[in-house]
Amino acid sequence: MIETTLIPLSQLDASGLEQLTSMHCAVMHTLLADLGGPVVRRYYQLAQTDPAVICFCVLSPAGQLGGWAIGSPDPSALYSRLSRSHPIWFIAQMIRLGVAQPGVLLNLSRSILSTSEANLISPGQIELTFIGVALHAQGQGLGKTLLNAFMEQARQAGYTSIVLSVETENTAAIRLYTRAGFQIIRTFSEGTFHRHRMECSLIKTAQV
Ligand SMILES: CC(C)(COP(=O)(O)OP(=O)(O)OC[C@H]1O[C@@H](n2cnc3c(N)ncnc32)[C@H](O)[C@@H]1OP(=O)(O)O)[C@@H](O)C(=O)NCCC(=O)NCCS
Repeated sequence: MIETTLIPLSQLDASGLEQLTSMHCAVMHTLLADLGGPVVRRYYQLAQTDPAVICFCVLSPAGQLGGWAIGSPDPSALYSRLSRSHPIWFIAQMIRLGVAQPGVLLNLSRSILSTSEANLISPGQIELTFIGVALHAQGQGLGKTLLNAFMEQARQAGYTSIVLSVETENTAAIRLYTRAGFQIIRTFSEGTFHRHRMECSLIKTAQV
């Protein structure tokens, strides 16, 4: 296990936020990353001020970001704030993307159109939206540390379970979740993605 400090996202300074933006784009192969650094940065800036968000970051003794875990009881609210809080900026970002990477906009529309009921969140549940560890630090226990911190905070906040979606071929993440007590509740397709929906009850104590 490498030496690290765990801090909430709200305590991450501007340099940490830049590291988080770069790390998200480097390790998280999702549509948000495809939308580019400026959109990812804004997402985490908005998350820093959202009281419903639970997010932890791990820092090395030198202050370098090692990874993060973020979740919310209403992840779509955070996405819609991206466009609604700065509409002109958002439209400019979409135009920039439409010119530079038209395929990304196509995937975005497909994803919005095919958003499945499999992702719905019930009262009492919180969704773990993203968890990621720096490439050079993977396999050293940081994922477990982050997941445990997220689970403990969610339990203290009174949630009854955590849900998440993971691509069916992401064996590292599925192993991490399964070891922590998550179970696959359904498998579904969303656009071009094939995903498992997983859930972990917080009522029966489950530690990694
Ligand atoms: C998934 C991820 C967060 C795991 O973090 P990590 O710090 O590497 O994981 P840990 O070292 O804490 O290991 C946790 C468990 O996963 C297993 N694991 C880690 N990397 C693995 C790999 N490449 N293949 C198979 N299992 C792996 C470990 O063996 C461990 O299980 P164990 O307790 O049975 O030994 C990390 O691989 C990552 O950032 N991946 C890219 C982003 C991503 O896919 N995020 C999840 C989807 S949102």
